[in-house]
Amino acid sequence: MVAWHYYPPLFSVAPMMEWTDHHYRTLARLISKHAWLYTEMLAAETIVYQKDNLDRFLAFSPEQHPIVLQIGGNNLEHLAKATELANPYQYDEINFNCGCPSPKVAGHGCFGVRLMLNPEFVGEAMSVIAAKTSSPVTVKCRIGVDDHDSYNELCDFIYKVSSLSPTRHFIIHSRKALLNGISPADNRKIPPLRYEYYFALLRDFPELTFSINGGINSVSEVKSAISQGAHGVMLGRAAYNKPWHTLARVDSDIYGAPISNITRRQILKEYQAYGDSVIGMYGKKPTLRDLVKPLFGLFHSEPGNGIWKRKADAALHSCTTMKSFLEETLDAIPDSVLDSTVATDPSDFTNENIFANVGARLPPPYDDSREEEVVSA
Ligand SMILES: Cc1cc2nc3c(=O)[nH]c(=O)nc-3n(C[C@H](O)[C@H](O)[C@H](O)COP(=O)(O)O)c2cc1C
Repeated sequence: MVAWHYYPPLFSVAPMMEWTDHHYRTLARLISKHAWLYTEMLAAETIVYQKDNLDRFLAFSPEQHPIVLQIGGNNLEHLAKATELANPYQYDEINFNCGCPSPKVAGHGCFGVRLMLNPEFVGEAMSVIAAKTSSPVTVKCRIGVDDHDSYNELCDFIYKVSSLSPTRHFIIHSRKALLNGISPADNRKIPPLRYEYYFALLRDFPELTFSINGGINSVSEVKSAISQGAHGVMLGRAAYNKPWHTLARVDSDIYGAPISNITRRQILKEYQAYGDSVIGMYGKKPTLRDLVKPLFGLFHSEPGNGIWKRKADAALHSCTTMKSFLEETLDAIPDSVLDSTVATDPSDFTNENIFANVGARLPPPYDDSREEEVVSA
């Protein structure tokens, strides 16, 4: 299975550690057939050292296509081996993490976003990865790191990585990372979003493809980014915290597919069958709690949501199957919610156009004269 069997990644769900696991992706795919789904980041070392146990980390059900494996690391040999070991699973794309600011990753590990400071290495890593797979290879990065946050430095990174490797698609988390010890969560909040850098990349690298990421909260905002020229839009927290409200409209509103009449009652029926078939398949894992976790945003802002969550907390202590969990808790949610085919996101009405006037804020074009310096450096 290769990427061009699918619609392009106009809409994707971001890689999120401990969130976009197989269970969340199963739920997401029940809601949207076309959204591109990313795995959590897997360190190349995990894949290499767990080579006798790979299904646990890499297997996914075929419905999850189109699906992207995100890997992280800074050891070329391990990156090559990890890509090779992942090949039989037929991921549609291999993405390399150059955006994670976690001290474990960007500190000791010295990979993730710290690699933005070493574009030559990233170029080499992407070539090594590309040599071991027939799927496209992509990079997810920030717009800068600490004081290395000028638009020209971002362009140098993009220019160098794309010149030195077959990378043609970059996912741009449109804020820089601060490596001063703030938490990863603060690193997704404190550095300001600078969408103008993203849109300037579209102008300055017309031969490349870019997806925009960071702070995009609703399908209306996705449409607005696309109408401003974005090649693709990646949502992280919104797609996790309110999966129904973001994903149920993706196929029709973004991909132009016929409106699906699926309801959350039907989705839960299928998710229940999935959950009860996998619970405890790796010894004690996954637990019922692991399987229930992705459901917590399903009734976001709906009547009954608060009571349902309280019941769910209690039911996790007494239930042992997904079936009994749902039987015990779902009476908190009105039938009108469970059977509704419409996903109306309240934030669609509250947010202004977050890309308004971005064109007026674009930085000056990439200084071409520096390109030669960059390649010959
Ligand atoms: C819990 C969590 C875990 C994350 N893990 C990863 C990861 O493994 N790899 C990665 O590239 N980004 C990771 N991110 C960052 C997201 O992919 C995304 O870039 C970021 O949340 C900004 O997008 P958003 O504003 O739509 O959430 C994570 C984010 C969250 C909230």
